[in-house]
Amino acid sequence: MKGIILAGGKGTRLYPTTRGICKQLIPIYDKPMVYYALSVLMLAGIKDILIITTQNALINFQDLFGKGEELGVNISYAAQDQPRGIAESFLIGKGFIGKDKVCLILGDNIFFGHGLPDLLQDAVNQEEGATIFGYYVRDPRRYAIIEFDEKENVTALQEKPAHPRSNWAVTGLYFYDNEVIKIAETLVPSARGELEITDVNNAYLARGKLQLTRLGRGYAWLDTGTCDSLIDASMFIKTIEDRQGLKIGCIEEIAYRMGYLTRDALEKIARQIHTSYGEYLLRIVEEERSS
Ligand code: TTP
Repeated sequence: MKGIILAGGKGTRLYPTTRGICKQLIPIYDKPMVYYALSVLMLAGIKDILIITTQNALINFQDLFGKGEELGVNISYAAQDQPRGIAESFLIGKGFIGKDKVCLILGDNIFFGHGLPDLLQDAVNQEEGATIFGYYVRDPRRYAIIEFDEKENVTALQEKPAHPRSNWAVTGLYFYDNEVIKIAETLVPSARGELEITDVNNAYLARGKLQLTRLGRGYAWLDTGTCDSLIDASMFIKTIEDRQGLKIGCIEEIAYRMGYLTRDALEKIARQIHTSYGEYLLRIVEEERSS
């Protein structure tokens, strides 16, 4: 399975900050926002990853991750010159996806909760169709919302409905079989001029091939699109990390635990980062050495 991180967009709700820097490079507490999305793909065991971002930001992402060799994964890059919609990912990434299945994650989404790797693994193992993840939210008018019949079957997905029929939002993490390319090729831009991911999901729903996994209240799905949600997310990460002494979204740790890096390779990375982040990685090396 291939993985795509969509990390473009204009980030207008964070202006003026995002006039000069790509949103997904802004830190959420102690690491760049995009680390959280990358960590989800890595926890799913996905090693071939395409980062799609703006032309201007490509170089910054390349500086951050290179080809992924330091993490034991393969990272490649593509530009989206205009934010023509989330579903454009599959047209830009067509060659990269090839005949494979694909997981798409938005570069500004943060997922946290016990058992997430198992949920991801289930979605990876799905032979055909699509898997989306639903999350109960207070203000459903801001999201793509899932409608259900009385038996709790999904009947429709509505993009930012004025009168939402449920509080279950579609999160920015999607798994698809290879049909997604063909579906994306038939899309037409919506009234707001975008190729809508909701149209892709509705196409799977119409074929009876849309699987919904609900993230219950033990999970956090955090928004990072506005100044307030940005600081809320940072505080959330800081609170959990301080309390547990364990990091969330630490891609080097995940690479090590997935067996992509040796202990020596992890130590080499750790010694180049002279912050508490590097100290954390060194602590893992030392704990592993003495275990
Ligand atoms: P949005 O939050 O819809 O857009 P944005 O991030 O540009 O922010 P704003 O509303 O403040 O202008 O996008 C969700 C995610 O998808 C975000 O990570 C940006 C990304 N995205 C793209 O990379 N390309 C696109 O064409 C769109 C629509 C979004």
